[in-house]
Amino acid sequence: MKESQGKTVYLRDYRVPDFLIDDTQLIVELFETQTLVSARLKMRRNPAAQTPQAPLVLSGRALELLEVKLAGKVLAGSDYQVDAEQLTIAGVPASFMLECRTRIKPQENTSLEGLYKSRVMFCTQCEAEGFRKITYYLDRPDVLSSFTTRIEAEKLRYPVLLSNGNLLASGELGGGRHFATWQDPFKKPCYLFALVAGDLENISDSFTTSSGRKVELKIFVEAKDLDKCDFAMDALKRAMRWDEQVYGREYDLDIFMIVAVDDFNMGAMENKGLNIFNSSCVLAKPETSTDFSFARIESIVAHEYFHNWSGNRVTCRDWFQLSLKEGFTVFRDAEFSADMGSRAVNRIEDVGMLRTVQFAEDSGPMAHSVRPESYMEISNFYTVTIYEKGAEVVRMIANLLGKELFRKGTDLYFSRFDGMAVTTEDFVQCMETVSGINLTQFRRWYSQAGTPELTVSRDYDAKQRRFTLTIKQQCPPTPRQPDKEPFYIPVTVALLDSNGQELPLQLGADDGQATSKVLRLTDAEQQFTFINIPEAPVPALLRGFSAPVKLQCDYTREELSFLMSHERDGFVRWEAGQQLSLAVLNEGMQARLAGQPVTVDPVLITAFGSVLQAALVDVNADKAMLANLLLLPPEAYLAELAVPADVEGIHAVREQLRRQLAHELADLFAQVYHANVSNESYRYEARAIAGRTLKNTALNYLMLLEDPHWFAIAKQQYDSATNMTDQSAALRALVNNPCAANQSLRETLVAAFYQQWQHETLVVEQWLSLQSAAPVPGNLPAVQQLIKHEAFDLRNPNKVRSVIGAFCNSNLIGFHAGDGSGYRFLADYVIKLNASNPQIASRQLTPLTRWRKYDTTRQALMKVELRRVMAEPKLSPDVFEIVSKSLQD
Ligand code: BES
Ligand code: ZN
Repeated sequence: MKESQGKTVYLRDYRVPDFLIDDTQLIVELFETQTLVSARLKMRRNPAAQTPQAPLVLSGRALELLEVKLAGKVLAGSDYQVDAEQLTIAGVPASFMLECRTRIKPQENTSLEGLYKSRVMFCTQCEAEGFRKITYYLDRPDVLSSFTTRIEAEKLRYPVLLSNGNLLASGELGGGRHFATWQDPFKKPCYLFALVAGDLENISDSFTTSSGRKVELKIFVEAKDLDKCDFAMDALKRAMRWDEQVYGREYDLDIFMIVAVDDFNMGAMENKGLNIFNSSCVLAKPETSTDFSFARIESIVAHEYFHNWSGNRVTCRDWFQLSLKEGFTVFRDAEFSADMGSRAVNRIEDVGMLRTVQFAEDSGPMAHSVRPESYMEISNFYTVTIYEKGAEVVRMIANLLGKELFRKGTDLYFSRFDGMAVTTEDFVQCMETVSGINLTQFRRWYSQAGTPELTVSRDYDAKQRRFTLTIKQQCPPTPRQPDKEPFYIPVTVALLDSNGQELPLQLGADDGQATSKVLRLTDAEQQFTFINIPEAPVPALLRGFSAPVKLQCDYTREELSFLMSHERDGFVRWEAGQQLSLAVLNEGMQARLAGQPVTVDPVLITAFGSVLQAALVDVNADKAMLANLLLLPPEAYLAELAVPADVEGIHAVREQLRRQLAHELADLFAQVYHANVSNESYRYEARAIAGRTLKNTALNYLMLLEDPHWFAIAKQQYDSATNMTDQSAALRALVNNPCAANQSLRETLVAAFYQQWQHETLVVEQWLSLQSAAPVPGNLPAVQQLIKHEAFDLRNPNKVRSVIGAFCNSNLIGFHAGDGSGYRFLADYVIKLNASNPQIASRQLTPLTRWRKYDTTRQALMKVELRRVMAEPKLSPDVFEIVSKSLQD
């Protein structure tokens, strides 16, 4: 075991820094074989620290130290200590200038953390702890400094030199070299530092803030991508306006820049004034990008922009507070997306993701609270719990306070803590201050891991005209948290009468006529009695998914289909459909296990039929909502619900149910398909997107008829498509429904697609993932062929995600092949990636860590592979943490 392995950092050990850095001046000289970094740090002892004698300890990794000067004097080797992680200097004065010269090798940096080369350009990624790979520093978010950065490089190869803030100076240096100096007037932690050098073009625009300041906006890309920047620019301007209108937040520098890079571990990064984006999260045009990627770009551009306030102006004290910026900013970007498109559909899709991915994390070996107590490698904690559950916690606060008070709370938060590094506790306190609401119990959402489970029972007393809901909550144990205290859970409810009308909700005699109410569940068990209820109602529970919980209620199938067609709240309607499908699927799986025939309850067929009817006759219906109502719960969600998860049963029964729905409702699916074929030119606009989504959902069902007529129509759609949404949907429909009858068509189109798009990297990524994710048993050999394909590159995270990630996360039946071949495949690549890019390696490992969910044979096969990874001699801390925790009992 390496020394850095197994070292745990605890929240309770937090201490203020012993030193502060008031100013940072960097000179970065870029060359083809090395980069020289000179740092001048204006430092002083932190008056708030109680450690007057503490030595100066700077973090540094993979650095070659060339020279250290303290107060202008070169230090001898005996004046300091340096090891693989730190530079230590004892006996420094109260304030001083520290100068370090270091050599780094960005060209050899495959971890994509620190300064590295993405194809032809230099770029950086410093969050969370990458700055220490650039120079020795106090690499922690509570040390805020002003930055001046001078970049020097060969002019022909790197005509564009960028860093944070404003351009101070630029010019020639002789020898074909040039320089640019940037200054950031806002103090920031070093994780927000960025530098870019490359041969880049840009599109440029401007935005005038509400107080009348003109901001220059630029998106930098390689020349080939200049035609794919307009959408992101438009999204950026909409996000800037939205943050002014909804949060009163204005942009604060004279320039805002985005750079697209091809090699990037994450989606994008909010560096001050210089956001760096994975090219897949910023570049789009209709011919190459699907509706899905447009939506993703819109939300990521907004997310990174919103961080300028929630993250940059007000930052995190330590990395345990990560959700302070990420959860809050995800909440902000979700609300932005909801305002830009269909609120209900956005909510449903977010909840769907939360329930499959985050609930799985929360019940697995890596379960942790929104504010974790400890970590080994912080990179492993950029999780769906920090992000998505964190956003749900902020959403609950926003709902508890209501729009106006929540805005008062965020105003107070931004003004009180501007320029500071703070905690989730500071955020919650602002909310209490402005509202007077006591959030003591609510704070458990930050400290307790696990997903609360609610059980609802109901009782109608006809004589008294009373309706009582009894709600119980409990939360299963998670690692290091065996017992949980009850949560404060807001449960938004409505009661529907037999006509689907909402009844006034009165818990007491002086309650008004409100028809939707938030029940405040605080105890392990609580009763809520509504008076003046004329008939036994159908309760609509957890409207808007008002809390991130699992809810169980003994609905009949008739009640579920009633809610599906009558309930106003989009989430409850959709959830009723999911519950109904689930009941039918479970019945099917039991029948299958008992060796009996699988039959489909006609209630479900009727319910799906009504959705299709609505799509044909209801001109006001939100077609994207209807498309969502036509989707059965995904296999991953079904696996998350069952212990043990019967992978084959889930796949077989779900496919059979889809097939049966297709056959029973073939005419309606066909009509819906044809009614939504459009020859309008592509627009990214809610109605048009909804039409395409519904049409392509219908096409997927129609493929299951295995009818040459419909294969021909899919081909026709593929051939005539003028946008990537329709072209790839046709191809995916064929690839996901392989049968002998469409084999040659399928193979022809898969080959033609690559031929047509081989020079568009982002389209090639879609082509790879579409094949790897196809839910087809026995397609591992095909996936292994893709790895050998000229388009694959193990050094590029997007390609890894498109092939390895897509196969292991989206193709459950392939990954969980009974012979363990999927597991072996993943472990092989985790071991390879561990050496080149530990962050990507540890992220890919996740599906193997879920071994407890499966039957004993699969458990054994999965553990063999985890142990094989564990036995690797040079395991990175990233992979070590995940693999060791997943094997702990
Ligand atoms: N700050 C993160 C990017 C990041 C995460 C950098 C982890 C280094 C380590 C950024 O704001 C972010 O959250 N990006 C998300 C997309 C967002 C829309 C949720 C991402 O990259 O996936
Ligand atoms: Zn973020």
